[in-house]
Amino acid sequence: MIGFDLDGDKVKRLADADSYVEDVPDERLADALATGRYRPTDDSDHMAGFDVAVIDVPTPLREGSPDLSYIEEAAATLAGHLHRDATVVLESTSYPGTTEELIVPILEKGSGLRAGRDFHVGYSPERIDPGNPTWHLENTPKVVSGIDGPSLHSVQGFYGRLVETTVAVSGTREAELTKLLENTFRHVNIALVNELAMFAADLDIDVWEAIDAASTKPFGYLRFTPGPGVGGHCLPIDPSYLSWKVRRSLGQPFRFVELANDVNEHMPDYVVRRLMLALNRMGRSINGSRVMLLGLAYKRNTGDAREAPGMVIARSLVSLGAEVLVADPHLSGESLPFRMVEVTADELAAADAVVLVTDHDAFNYDVVRTHARYILDTRNRLDGPTVERL
Ligand SMILES: NC(=O)c1ccc[n+]([C@@H]2O[C@H](COP(=O)([O-])OP(=O)(O)OC[C@H]3O[C@@H](n4cnc5c(N)ncnc54)[C@H](O)[C@@H]3O)[C@@H](O)[C@H]2O)c1
Repeated sequence: MIGFDLDGDKVKRLADADSYVEDVPDERLADALATGRYRPTDDSDHMAGFDVAVIDVPTPLREGSPDLSYIEEAAATLAGHLHRDATVVLESTSYPGTTEELIVPILEKGSGLRAGRDFHVGYSPERIDPGNPTWHLENTPKVVSGIDGPSLHSVQGFYGRLVETTVAVSGTREAELTKLLENTFRHVNIALVNELAMFAADLDIDVWEAIDAASTKPFGYLRFTPGPGVGGHCLPIDPSYLSWKVRRSLGQPFRFVELANDVNEHMPDYVVRRLMLALNRMGRSINGSRVMLLGLAYKRNTGDAREAPGMVIARSLVSLGAEVLVADPHLSGESLPFRMVEVTADELAAADAVVLVTDHDAFNYDVVRTHARYILDTRNRLDGPTVERL
């Protein structure tokens, strides 16, 4: 198996068994390399003769519209190495129609072969949940699809050897929509509890207690919790692929997605406002205050700061004149424009306010509770007289 990536630095690290993916330990990578059957490379000639190719490249938004250039480039590279009976599977998240309308023509043009007749094509969404100790690639059911029966058969056969359960759907567009439905569902429900949290605070009602109580209902309710906003490469982006497609194809807005974007994108500002009100009660302003942020990654126990709401909060506080200190054991300070600190009694006591942005398990919450003068807890992790929850 070869792992092809354009990024030579990543390839070198992989070849040195130096994993840059938190969930994959170096030893596991070293074991795979030692078999001699896994080869990281940035040389596309090593693709020659492939039987199955899986495309897993980024699908970002560019000024609100899907940027499919990475998929196009990957498909064009693969096309030059495509042979009869090979299978190409797209895993990147994208709007329904991408596999058939974008990938297939590129593969056919570059290879001179016909999809379906000469080679197989399918779509199978990624369902990785970084940092999840229970659900991983092997035990998470994998949705699979093909552009026709033989393609589905080939794609299902391939994943059937890697995961415990495959779930076949009738076409690639259904599989593409499945992924967007999953993430839009999450996005919308998080927006619902975020908006509720803001109203509940104004009404002086404990939203966290209501969420806990609602979660005791054994049917018809699924627990989602408020927070400082959504981040990562999925939730802030994927639903917009769906709303973009609906608007382009049907000329209509996808109102749920647009409303959820609105609410979730507002959350970092709301956190800053709550902090401003708290400092105001202490007779202080954000300008000139020393604020310590606990956690910057968008997700607990991970070091992924892509699209992280903590970044927005930190930048906003800096622009308002605060001195911002960040503690995040999962992130190194080199790539961040903020001063990184350890969570010590002295640092906590020296801060006018502490904001718990990401509730990593690695934090010593007893120390935080004991030494911080004021804590704005956006995750409902702490209690006590100095703690104010979102
Ligand atoms: N990581 C996850 O947890 C996750 C979960 C679900 C869905 N996804 C989806 O999977 C896709 C990839 O996400 P990711 O997190 O792995 O992205 P990533 O940015 O971490 O990695 C993508 C890699 O693709 C490489 N690349 C770009 N263009 C290339 C090309 N033409 N040929 C070869 N390599 C190329 C980049 O150098 C990069 O290393 C996205 O569509 C994302 O939405 C990711």
